[in-house]
Order: sequence, then structure tokens, then C-alpha cells
Amino acid sequence: MPVVSYTSVSDVPPMVAVSSAPSHYTCKLVLEAGSFSLCILDRDHAGAIARLASVSGAKVEDKLRDARLKYSKGEVLKVPVIQGAAATLECSLKEKRRFGDHLLLVGQVRAARAADAFDGFWDFARYRPLLYTGWREGLTTLPGS
Ligand SMILES: Cc1cc2nc3c(=O)[nH]c(=O)nc-3n(C[C@H](O)[C@H](O)[C@H](O)COP(=O)(O)O)c2cc1C
Repeated sequence: MPVVSYTSVSDVPPMVAVSSAPSHYTCKLVLEAGSFSLCILDRDHAGAIARLASVSGAKVEDKLRDARLKYSKGEVLKVPVIQGAAATLECSLKEKRRFGDHLLLVGQVRAARAADAFDGFWDFARYRPLLYTGWREGLTTLPGS
């Protein structure tokens, strides 16, 4: 499922967090599996992201394939990793905590990989990030990129 953001929680050990509505199918799968992957997709995947946000995994047999995304198993964890992602993090779930109507899911990063567009920093000529400007206005990117 697309998330509006993720945040870095710790450098040593490396940990990140995302916030999910507990009713989402992805959240249930993460709690069951005790692991998740974070896949950072760029502008080329805007259509797939819109599809992932529009249909629940509970309603389709294979949500990633339904969105025409290819994926494979993680290098270290048994998590789906989307092919062509600009960066991927394989995480084991360390903590979950309810805040309001969402669950904060904190994962320890077990494996990380970035595309060639990252060499210590992002080369924005090759990596064109998506910016969330509000769902009704869709997903967009920086002008000229
Ligand atoms: C740009 C964008 C960001 C989103 N961010 C979040 C988020 O941070 N947390 C969340 O629970 N849902 C978020 N959603 C909504 C879920 O992605 C959406 O409800 C999805 O269909 C849930 O799928 P699932 O039931 O298969 O898990 C976001 C949707 C969009 C379009």
C-alpha cells in the first residue's frame, strides 16, 4: 500500500517507521508476518501507485501484479520487493504503537538497496521523486524533472 511518508527513527541500529490504519490489509499482513519492505518508487510508477491506493489487497488475489508491478522475494527477509524501485528496505517489525486511529509500525532495516541514481546522494536527473500534493490533485513531481 502507498504510504504518505516514512521516517528514519535510528541510525544504529537502522530503524524506520510508517503509520498505517489498522483496517488496511497491508497492516494485517505486516503484523502477521512480522516484517515488511519499503519500496521507493519514482514518477514512472505513478499509475501503479494510484492503483495500489485504490484497491484493497483483500479484494484481489495479487495486488502488486494487479497494479502491473513485478516483484521478487527480499534478499534477507521473506518480503515482496518491487522490481525497478529506486530504493528498497527490508525490515523486521520491532515495535507497533497506536496513535489515534493509526498504528505506528517501527521496523529494523535488515537489508537496503538503491538504484544507480543514488551514489551517496540522489542524482535528480535520473531519479524523479514523486511528491504528494493531496490525493485529489493526484501524484506529481518537481517541475521540469
Ligand atoms: C499518496 C497516498 C498516501 C497514503 N498514505 C497512507 C499512509 O501513510 N497510511 C495509511 O494507512 N494509508 C495510506 N494511504 C491509503 C492506502 O494506501 C490505501 O487505503 C490502500 O488501498 C490500502 O490498501 P490495503 O488495504 O491493500 O492495505 C495512502 C494513499 C495515498 C494515495
